[in-house]
Amino acid sequence: MTATSENIPLPDVDIEAVKRERAIDYDPFSAKDIEVNLAQLAARRAVNPVTYSGTGGGFWVATGYDEIVSVLRNNNRGYISFPNNPYGEPPAGEATSKRLIPIELDGAEHRQYRKLLEPVFAPKEMQALEPQIRKLANDLIDTWIEDGTVDFVSGFAFPYSATTIILLMGWPLQDAAMMNKWVRTLQHGVLDGDEEAARKAQAKAGAEVREYILSMMAERRARPVDDFSQMLMNIELNGSKLSDDDLYDTFLLLMLAGLDTVQSALAQTFAYLGTRQDKWDEMFAQPETIDLAVEEFLRYTAPAVPTRTVTNDYMVVGDVPVPRGERVHCPLGAANRDPKYYPDPDEIDYNRPAKPHLAFGLGPHRCIGLHLARLEMKIAFEELRARIPRFGLTEGHTPVGHLGFAWGVDDVYLSFPPGPRRA
Ligand code: HEM
Repeated sequence: MTATSENIPLPDVDIEAVKRERAIDYDPFSAKDIEVNLAQLAARRAVNPVTYSGTGGGFWVATGYDEIVSVLRNNNRGYISFPNNPYGEPPAGEATSKRLIPIELDGAEHRQYRKLLEPVFAPKEMQALEPQIRKLANDLIDTWIEDGTVDFVSGFAFPYSATTIILLMGWPLQDAAMMNKWVRTLQHGVLDGDEEAARKAQAKAGAEVREYILSMMAERRARPVDDFSQMLMNIELNGSKLSDDDLYDTFLLLMLAGLDTVQSALAQTFAYLGTRQDKWDEMFAQPETIDLAVEEFLRYTAPAVPTRTVTNDYMVVGDVPVPRGERVHCPLGAANRDPKYYPDPDEIDYNRPAKPHLAFGLGPHRCIGLHLARLEMKIAFEELRARIPRFGLTEGHTPVGHLGFAWGVDDVYLSFPPGPRRA
C-alpha cells in the first residue's frame, strides 16, 4: 500500500481493529531510563514498526527507521507539525503562548521563516562563536576541576548549552546564571518540592523569563544593535514584523531547542564514557575520529521526539493507513537504533558504514541549529579531554534518565584526578 493522496478514499481497513491489534500503551513523558525505554521500543518494533498507544487521547508510535523517515519527509505533504506533541496539547504548558516558532509552523509561513533564519545558522556564522565557546567550556571546568568530582549535568552540560544560546542571542553573559536557573525551573520544577510548589515556581520563572526577554527587546527598540536578537526582531512575515508574543515564542523555542538537546547529548555521552574509557581514548587516537565520534554519539543519544498530525485523508505509515487528524509519534532514538541499518545498535562504533542518523530529524523542520550543535559537542570533547583525560562514574550514583520533549539524564556524577584551574 503506497497511496497517500487527498482524493483517494480511505482504504477498506477497520482502523479501530488495527488499533486494538497493535495496542501497546506508551507514556512519552515518563521518568524512565532512556536505555530501558529504547529496549521497550525495540521490543515494540519487533512486534510491528507501527503500533498504537491509547494514552493521551491516542497516537501511533513509529519505531522503524524507514517508517519515521516516511513521516518526517512528508511534512507539508500530508502531515503538519502542529501540535508537536503526542498528546496534542500545547508543548510547554503555560510557559508559552499558542505555538512554538518555527517548529510548529508549517507550509509557506514556515518556509519564509527558514529562509530568514538559515543564513544566520550557517557553518561560518557558527564557527565565529568558537573562541567564546572554548572559553566558556574552560571557565566551567575551572569551577570544579580542583574537587575531583562533579555532577556533569549541572556543572557542565546544562550551563554550557544554555550559555551558548545566550552568546548566540547577544544577551549579557553575566545574566547566564539567572537565565539558566529560570529555564531549569521551567523544565524541571523545584528540587524536593511537591507538585503545587513546582507549578508556582514554574509560573514565577515563566513570568520572569518573559519580562527579561521583553526588556531585551525594548532595549533594542530604543538602541538597535547588530546581533541575532535584533535580526529576529527585524524579520517581516507577510509584510509585518513579528508581534511580541511571536518573538517571545521564537526566543523561548530557541532556548529550549538548543539547550535540552545539546545538554542531553553530552550528558548521555559522558554517562556512557564513564564506564567506557576505551571509547574515550579511541576518540582521540586518530585526528579524524573525533568528527565520527560526534556523529556516532548523536546517533546513540538522539534526544528529540517529533510528532506529526495527518492532514490528508490518510497517510500510510508502514502498512497502516493513518486517517486524517491522527498523530504519529516518532522517537528518533528508536530510528537510530534500528538494527536494519545499525548492526549491534546499542554499541558505540565510530567506524559504522555511513547511514545518515536521524538525530536532527528530516524534512522541512530538520534542525536548523545542527552546525552549532556539532561544534558544541566537538569543543566539549576536546576541552574536557585536555583537562580530565581520565574519569569514571562516581560509585553509588547511577545516572537517572527521563523521557519528555527531549529525553535526558537528571545527573551524571563523575570522579577524576583533580587538576589545576586555568584562570
Ligand atoms: C544535539 C543537539 C540537537 C539535536 C539532537 C537537535 C534536534 C532537532 C530535531 C530532531 C529537530 C526537528 C524536530 C521536528 O521535526 O519536530 C530540531 C529542530 C530545531 N532545532 Fe535542533 N537539535 C539540536 C540542537 C539545536 C541547537 C543548538 C539549536 C539552536 C540554537 C537548535 C534549534 C532548532 C530549531 C530552531 C528547530 C526548529 C526548526 C524548524 O522547525 O524548522 N537545535 N532540532
